[in-house]
Amino acid sequence: MKQQEQALANRNEKTLLAVLNGKSAKQPPIWLMRQAGRYLPEYLATRKTAGSFLDLCYTPEFAVEVTLQPIRRFGFDAAILFSDILVIPDGLGQKVWFEAGSGPRLDALETLGAIDRLKPEGMTERLSPVYEAVRGLRAALPPETTLIGFSGAPWTLATYMIEGGTSKQFTRAKTWAFSDPDGFGKLISLLEDAVVAHLCAQVEAGAEALQIFDSWAGALPPAALKRWSLDPLARIVALVRERHPNVPIILFPRGAGEFYRDFATHSGAQGLSLDSGLSCRWAAETLDRNVVLQGNLDPIYLVAGGTAMEEAALAVLEELSGRPFIFNLGHGVVPETPPDHVARLVELVKGWSGGKD
Ligand code: CP3
Repeated sequence: MKQQEQALANRNEKTLLAVLNGKSAKQPPIWLMRQAGRYLPEYLATRKTAGSFLDLCYTPEFAVEVTLQPIRRFGFDAAILFSDILVIPDGLGQKVWFEAGSGPRLDALETLGAIDRLKPEGMTERLSPVYEAVRGLRAALPPETTLIGFSGAPWTLATYMIEGGTSKQFTRAKTWAFSDPDGFGKLISLLEDAVVAHLCAQVEAGAEALQIFDSWAGALPPAALKRWSLDPLARIVALVRERHPNVPIILFPRGAGEFYRDFATHSGAQGLSLDSGLSCRWAAETLDRNVVLQGNLDPIYLVAGGTAMEEAALAVLEELSGRPFIFNLGHGVVPETPPDHVARLVELVKGWSGGKD
């Protein structure tokens, strides 16, 4: 056994961190976006006790419990802090609430004046229960499990803040970005600082790796995608790295298409999470080899299960196996997912023996 493999075979070695640092593993580590949530009966039970969704996020005891639930059940290689990207607007003083059936709602920002009323000073104090949960998790997690902290990206956060919730066309956010780039840039720049502060506070509380979700990057045309997604993310990566040089960062610019190439070469991130629309073969052949790839099974295969899921998962494993990679979905687990299908997926990835030595 080569020395490197020996190290990875050590039970207490954090395989996911090792892979993010460029080591290859015989079996790729696995975790899933939205691995905690409504498809798990134990989540629904804790959610009921907690009251509102934000109460769940802001009560460290509950946030720790729901983060651990999928780890206990499936033994994932990483735990992602249970929280939400919208704690940043909430922490900045914009009203955020969650309505059953209709997703998140916010008191929409409509004018430049509304940006000035946001309160970046004191945000991390207001979000202290989130960091308390991170501290609790570090103490509770098995030693081989990597703890991932996260944030939304400025552009994705701005869409929720301007649209007042989820949107299909992003007409208001894009109109603002296109017609008043200076004013819109003020919001993006304020959010860059907020994201850096939120990520660093999670690292200081014990997060070992970070993921930034730019879920709506794909809504932007090329020049705007560079200006409002890639450039802000590259600045954030540089600033976090300055303070915490050893904490790897994974970016998820969902829908960015051929721009993934620029994210691989110009963002400074160690990891790139592929959405399900990208071919793994294309990604493996095209994307700079210094970046660790993560992905990208379509989450609906987890609903379908059976041989359809197994064949699709094997295709991901085979196509990405020539370089260090992390098995994940191309987007989050959906509530309709049978937990047994997740168990089967984990078994398949952990039992896979096609990895290159
Ligand atoms: O991955 C995890 O297990 C960690 C927890 C996590 C949640 N949201 C919990 C959650 C993470 C990492 C997120 C990120 C998030 N939140 C994103 C980026 C990732 C993505 O999916 O693109 C976005 C865009 C949000 C905003 C958000 N929060 C929406 C659109 C919704 C409603 C969607 C839905 O499924 O209803 C939420 C609510 C939310 N965040 C839930 C969970 C488990 C469901 C809330 C409930 O229990 O009622």
